[in-house]
Amino acid sequence: MLVLAAYVLSKGDRYSLYSADADGLRRIHEMLGVFVFVVVVLRLLWRLLDSTPAKRPMPQWMAAAAKLVQFALYALLIAIPATAVLGTWLEGLPVTLPGFDIAPQIAKAHGLGQLIMEIHITLGNAILWVAGVHAAAALLHRFYLRDEVFQSMAPGG
Ligand code: HEM
Repeated sequence: MLVLAAYVLSKGDRYSLYSADADGLRRIHEMLGVFVFVVVVLRLLWRLLDSTPAKRPMPQWMAAAAKLVQFALYALLIAIPATAVLGTWLEGLPVTLPGFDIAPQIAKAHGLGQLIMEIHITLGNAILWVAGVHAAAALLHRFYLRDEVFQSMAPGG
């Protein structure tokens, strides 16, 4: 939900998320993105401490695809906020959160900053597709294959 909200609230005027006019929208977008990062770190700690669902019997290719998609989701959830903060600071701009700014903590390198922000935007679009494929696969297990994979993904499963 946080990723979806950050995505939807990045779509103001295509070229002006940095502008003064988009200040409010940008602050909400950046706050949601920082929340995503905090929640993912907590989730990874939880995953380390708690048990993961038992492996279900399935063809090797399907297990490999599931692993790949799970890895991609975690990698994107970390890389998207990380590229945003790095790119913003390299561009010499502060990270703007509701009520306060965090000034750049690294030296300005405008061109590199722009490139990293392009990567941020591409990854921000890509995660919606990966999450969509992941959700579609979960529904396939539930309604077509009728195995227990969907239940094992649900809370308490
Ligand atoms: C999971 C979290 C995030 C997602 C899914 C996401 C997604 C996106 C997307 C899709 C865009 C392009 C919008 C467009 O122009 O069509 C964008 C732009 C932007 N994002 Fe994020 N973002 C996230 C987190 C962050 C964070 C944490 C920050 C800052 C700390 C941030 C700062 C920015 C800025 C400044 C832009 C404008 C870049 C430009 O126009 O060159 N984002 N984001």
